[in-house]
Amino acid sequence: MNRVEIVRAYVEDILKNISSEDDRKTAYIHTYSVAEACSFIADKRRLNTELAYISGLLHDIYAYKTGIYFGHAYNSTEMSRVALRKMDVFSDDEKILILSAIYHHSDIAHIHDEYDEILKDANILQPFLYDPSSKIYYLAIPRFNNMLNEFNIKAVPIEYGYSPNEHAQFQNKRVLLANIAEELAVKRIAGEETDKNFLEIIKYYPEASAFKELKNGWCAAFVYHCCLKAGIQLPLKPTPATFRLAGVGAWYEWSKHNNFCFYEQESFVPARGDIVIYNNIIPVENKPKGSPSHDHIGVVLACEGKQISVAEGNIDNNNLSGIVTRKRDITIGCYVRIPNDYVYDGWKYDYKTGEIRNVDYKSNL
Ligand SMILES: [Fe+2]
Repeated sequence: MNRVEIVRAYVEDILKNISSEDDRKTAYIHTYSVAEACSFIADKRRLNTELAYISGLLHDIYAYKTGIYFGHAYNSTEMSRVALRKMDVFSDDEKILILSAIYHHSDIAHIHDEYDEILKDANILQPFLYDPSSKIYYLAIPRFNNMLNEFNIKAVPIEYGYSPNEHAQFQNKRVLLANIAEELAVKRIAGEETDKNFLEIIKYYPEASAFKELKNGWCAAFVYHCCLKAGIQLPLKPTPATFRLAGVGAWYEWSKHNNFCFYEQESFVPARGDIVIYNNIIPVENKPKGSPSHDHIGVVLACEGKQISVAEGNIDNNNLSGIVTRKRDITIGCYVRIPNDYVYDGWKYDYKTGEIRNVDYKSNL
């Protein structure tokens, strides 16, 4: 098999498993049309058509695999990163080029590298090629007009969607987080494939190995699930983090980077809806050798004096959820207090360099 065929086989495997026939048909059309448009645009711009085509094939796979659309550009990148590594047919430079395009493809208001731009443009062109009367999202209009010019297409786009206030309505997301975590924790969820609630908690992880990997370490996955349900929308691996939020370390890294991380020593009083990260709280006999010191995480439900009550998944690595009382002592690593108006801003980082890159598309016309 050549490289395109290898990636195609991988993507087909995901598409054919979409349960709704309508969704499956749309996914096939969108995937192949975007890939072909990528190849066409790459050729016109004298770039590598094979790599552009492959970025198009992979760009939405996370959404097709999980049915989850929030953050699908970042999560499709994560999923592709693992898949491309296993395929072992691309150089590091090629992989980063493909992954960068997938990562940035939803950010149509800004400019990135040439292959990133190909995928963004192809993604906008595809619905129009499928149905010339389809409406173009207002933010995509400058890009669309540019392409009409570049490819000499005679068409008048019909625009739609004015939403000056696109951010979610203000809500007390932390209170919601605590309510959701409390409600779930008392269900005594077991980390087993027979537990429906557990399958909901691990549904975000697209690899077949997810169940095995999380089986005895799902406290962070529990918190991640509760956050998403509360409207605190985070991709699997928020840039610039090194690890996925399925692990405790990534929560620490992410919260520190965003200045959401607070310590007991600084006379910080935990409150309902905070996330607590523990240090060395799991009994040594229950954890693998060489585990990091921050070894557990949960959602604070209440603070009374020197104690907190916490909703947790996989309590003490015993594979069950529940509500526990914990001491406010040296086992507390830190608290994470996510602002109620938090909106994920990882899009502003360049995938390849990790640096902030915020070049407006319109300012470059
Ligand atoms: Fe997409």
